[in-house]
Amino acid sequence: MSLLEIGDLDVRYGRRHVLRSVSLSIAPGEAVGVIGETGSGKSTLARSVLGLVRPSAGRIVIDGTDIVGLSARQWRELRRRGVVQYVFQDPLRSLDPDLTVFESVAEPLRIRGASEINDKVHHTLARVRLEPALSDRLPAELSGGQRQRVAVARALITAPRLVLLDEPVSALDSANRVQILELLKELRDSGTALLFISHDLGSVAGVADRIAVLYQGEIVEDRPAAEVVNEPAHAYTRLLVGSAPTLRSAAAGRAARAALRDLVNLEGAPA
Ligand SMILES: Nc1ncnc2c1ncn2[C@@H]1O[C@H](COP(=O)(O)OP(=O)(O)OP(=O)(O)O)[C@@H](O)[C@H]1O
Ligand SMILES: [Mg+2]
Repeated sequence: MSLLEIGDLDVRYGRRHVLRSVSLSIAPGEAVGVIGETGSGKSTLARSVLGLVRPSAGRIVIDGTDIVGLSARQWRELRRRGVVQYVFQDPLRSLDPDLTVFESVAEPLRIRGASEINDKVHHTLARVRLEPALSDRLPAELSGGQRQRVAVARALITAPRLVLLDEPVSALDSANRVQILELLKELRDSGTALLFISHDLGSVAGVADRIAVLYQGEIVEDRPAAEVVNEPAHAYTRLLVGSAPTLRSAAAGRAARAALRDLVNLEGAPA
């Protein structure tokens, strides 16, 4: 059974139709990337899975529970089960500015009344390669990369089965980006399912088993990552492959230019 099953999901903001019949599933332990340009609906998809956006149609089944239309009490119950945790782009906004690193990482455990909190926090800080000496610092006293590690540690500490990441490395410099991506690979290899959302195919390609491409609110391809990178089917994907710095080659550059022409034609065509 899928850990996450999204079926025919429609989301509208007022009259604007942002997600159209989106279907996506993630098996236990599977790392799925979602890529798409700005405004394509990636964060809306993430927010829908976290129950922060109310879909106008479709279903979102997490570990057997359809979350569309759950009551507040049912949500609390689902949260207690701790199936899903999340990491967003901007850790400065997702971390409480008044909590030290230690307190931030310990908080999800305290909420659940866990035991041996000290040991678990230290173990998790080591896992994300944060020096114990940073435990007493506030978010404002950390670098961007250190902050994002704190956010990842918070997401890991309760051992969720699925971690949802919305642009987790977009705000980081390249050295920090590489380190967080390595961390995500380790997480995947340890059997945690990932939903990794990014506009950057290069970041997703090394982590995801499968990549779904979101284009103007629709999934236009959803295939094994290597296939998407090596034989991109949709014009938008070809453009991404051609413009990803880590994937770039002369052939990719030609593919990108051809894709750009196709896209101009596509967008110019009547809907
Ligand atoms: N709360 C909201 N109310 C109205 N429109 C919204 C709201 N949030 C997002 N939108 C619109 O919905 C569309 C999809 O937004 P979304 O944030 O999901 O895109 P995204 O793919 O995450 O983009 P980015 O790569 O820039 O983060 C955009 O056109 C955006 O302007
Ligand atoms: Mg977004």
